[in-house]
Amino acid sequence: MAIALCPGSFDPVTLGHLDIIERTARHFDEVIVAVIRNPQKSQSLFTLEERQSMLAEVTAHIPNIRIEFFKGLLVEFARDHGAESIVKGLRAISDFDYELQMAQMNQRLSGIDTFFISTSPQHSFLSSSLVREVARFGGDVSSMVPPMVAERLAERYGDAAEST
Ligand code: PNS
Repeated sequence: MAIALCPGSFDPVTLGHLDIIERTARHFDEVIVAVIRNPQKSQSLFTLEERQSMLAEVTAHIPNIRIEFFKGLLVEFARDHGAESIVKGLRAISDFDYELQMAQMNQRLSGIDTFFISTSPQHSFLSSSLVREVARFGGDVSSMVPPMVAERLAERYGDAAEST
């Protein structure tokens, strides 16, 4: 069985992530969305459980998917779960240097290959950090995240969005 990992922080999941996850699920028997437990970014907006529950809800229509947490090296998690592929979305050339470096490091460490999917053009500027920033200041993110994530962002930042 061909198992692929889609790893990330997903703080929160965006339509760009969802696009990559859906497309990955068409090419593999099973997709594990691997949510990192302790990203270097110490200040996550959503807890792990919140991120997992949002991911579970917005991917409920995809039958061959599961959501898991991981910490430490991604390739160790991949080995433990029988995954032989990592799939990442590439938004722009600016993603390429770092993604290539990580792919090569992961290949050296484990032999596990990374496959890149080009992000759909309508999502090429999207990132969780920008979405958080826009939402924090009361901007409209409804075209960037699934509706329930937009609701969670609005709840999190409250009715009175920061203006300074
Ligand atoms: O959504 P993000 O924050 O861009 O995801 C980055 C992530 C989690 C995919 C990356 O930081 C990662 O794989 N971390 C695990 C630690 C690891 O294996 N490091 C060596 C990679 S070369």
